[in-house]
Amino acid sequence: MDVTVIGCGYVGLVTGTCLASLGHTVRGVEKDPRKLKMLQDGHCPVFEPGLQELMQEHYASGQLQFTGNVKSALKEAEVVYLAVGTPPKDDGTVDMSFLEGAGKEVCDALVALNNEYMVTIVVKSTVPAGTNRKLYNFLKQQTNAYVQVVSNPEFLREGSAVKDFLEPDRIVIGGESPEAFRMMRRLYDPIIKREEHFMTMAWESAELTKYAANAMLAARISFMNEMTILCEAYGADIEDIRKGIGTDFRIGPAFLRAGCGYGGSCFPKDVAALEHISKAVGHENLFVEAIQTVNKNQKQRFVQKIVEKLGRPIEGATIAVWGLAFKADTDDIRESAAIDVIRYLLEKGAHVRATDPKAMENMKQLFKEQVEWFPDPVSAAAGADAVALLTDWPQYSTLPFRKIAATMNQPIIFDGRNCLHRDVMRETGFQYYPMGRPAVENTLRLKTRV
Ligand SMILES: NC(=O)c1ccc[n+]([C@@H]2O[C@H](COP(=O)([O-])OP(=O)(O)OC[C@H]3O[C@@H](n4cnc5c(N)ncnc54)[C@H](O)[C@@H]3O)[C@@H](O)[C@H]2O)c1
Repeated sequence: MDVTVIGCGYVGLVTGTCLASLGHTVRGVEKDPRKLKMLQDGHCPVFEPGLQELMQEHYASGQLQFTGNVKSALKEAEVVYLAVGTPPKDDGTVDMSFLEGAGKEVCDALVALNNEYMVTIVVKSTVPAGTNRKLYNFLKQQTNAYVQVVSNPEFLREGSAVKDFLEPDRIVIGGESPEAFRMMRRLYDPIIKREEHFMTMAWESAELTKYAANAMLAARISFMNEMTILCEAYGADIEDIRKGIGTDFRIGPAFLRAGCGYGGSCFPKDVAALEHISKAVGHENLFVEAIQTVNKNQKQRFVQKIVEKLGRPIEGATIAVWGLAFKADTDDIRESAAIDVIRYLLEKGAHVRATDPKAMENMKQLFKEQVEWFPDPVSAAAGADAVALLTDWPQYSTLPFRKIAATMNQPIIFDGRNCLHRDVMRETGFQYYPMGRPAVENTLRLKTRV
């Protein structure tokens, strides 16, 4: 089929590339000139495992193309995805300006092209309930084009986005047109393994499904984070509790890992949006408020633990931050816990050093000279008073800890992701503070400070 994808960020580029890999002809439209140039030069503007290779393969074959021109991209299009950002405004409500802008451009192109066949507009962006209906009514008023609108929320996770797209647990399509549903069923045919995984529903149900999914996942994390307080107070281990409840089939094991708080481009903004979507209909959603409060507190609690356990004043102390991306396998720092933790540390007068295998360039834009940047965790830790581990990069668990301990001013690690091994920490001479797990405290051999 002939597909246009408006917006070539994390979601749009994965969508376009994967659809091209399924045999569809895809035109990606990107308005950011820097990103467009990279795409047209055959480079992937974001880091996502497997994406660059797949994109280059289908770009080279001509199955996937990139342009800045909506009208030319829509000329043959049967299906048009809107995959633009819906970032949070300062007050937590959703900034709809990109979606409105893209909707208007598509509308103008449809008017100008005056095609005779049906065009299905697919809203991939995460949008408040009522948005798809509004877009449909707008297009009906403004054009004579034969146009349908469906909501198709995306559930991919950065870091495994290509696999998630090509092997979805479910595909949710919201709308009112059986013809558009059939179109989407055909489009996704190669990746639908079981018929019941292709779900059609009302626009508003699909829109709210996305927010409900993210709020539910964020709630599980916040719940476990809240439990870390009890674990630390009573000497319990959150990892044992995770296994103890995660094996209950009614609960399941996913998203039960405690840490120093969730981040990313989706959970924080979507949970905040749900609070405002609730307010818009006069409902104060105490549940989603609590998810966010716990998340904010957890980051502060992590820094407070550093202050209490550092063994010297935080002011003037050197803290090496390992990991800046909001999770492993991405360069995305949007609302990463590292941003808040670094801010709190700087506010308290600490010297912050930072390193990350993929996200350092993005974080440099934010903190510039306020932070010292290091190419790897070993050099970042040398001479530091403590390490704060904030991203669960797998390579961090196999570092040469004995060597690192010997070069640090004080061998202390605050593990905000519970991803290091306690025994390794003890054996290599570290004082070790995970979240909600017993600490390793007796190995500290402070060097004499001059
Ligand atoms: N990133 C995720 O993990 C994820 C997962 C599921 C859903 N979502 C949702 O998907 C949507 C997109 O998220 P993202 O992370 O890909 O955002 P992004 O910011 O990475 O990408 C959006 C892209 O759209 C481009 N753009 C904006 N307006 C345009 C226009 N009029 N024409 C052409 N290009 C335009 C921007 O330049 C940008 O490159 C959001 O609503 C988000 O909530 C994201």
